[in-house]
Amino acid sequence: MRNVTLTEVYSHPIAQKYLQRSGLAHAIAVTCHAYKLAVKYGVNPDLATKAALLHDIGHYEWYTDGEWDYEKYKENDIHAIKGAERAHKLLIRLGENPQSAKEIALAILLHTDSYLPEGSLNQSTLQKVVRLADEMDEEPGGGHHYRKINEVTALKTIQKLDEKIDRLPNSSLKESV
Ligand SMILES: [Fe+2]
Repeated sequence: MRNVTLTEVYSHPIAQKYLQRSGLAHAIAVTCHAYKLAVKYGVNPDLATKAALLHDIGHYEWYTDGEWDYEKYKENDIHAIKGAERAHKLLIRLGENPQSAKEIALAILLHTDSYLPEGSLNQSTLQKVVRLADEMDEEPGGGHHYRKINEVTALKTIQKLDEKIDRLPNSSLKESV
């Protein structure tokens, strides 16, 4: 049994605020990719979909004179750190199991290495799943953040994922390594 559903996370006003900011369509697409990849690689789809849904909620708006400033963003961005912290706070507030909240936060923290010093990350399979899911939906120039999605479609997609996750055997919802 899960303490918190994907729909509960998705519907929370804090999640809604930041999902709208970084692009709802992208978040939903990455969540769907993460579900499939989690099943394929044998990691917990509950953790993978929650991390995928929330992976970009740490984005800040880098604007110069009303225009999106990609250079400024690249130099100053820490969205993975901020997102991990925001997601963790939100999940704990919703009553998520603290172990799961930590795993989800770590997967968000490490879904990209663009903000880290040079070097190689040793990612867990869950962290790789979220990273791959994100990359599958990326568009050049950050276009994926601006794609539109109908809110009814978004909610239905999330609810369908919850149903799929609830139908999975309990063994696939254990903590991943
Ligand atoms: Fe992303």
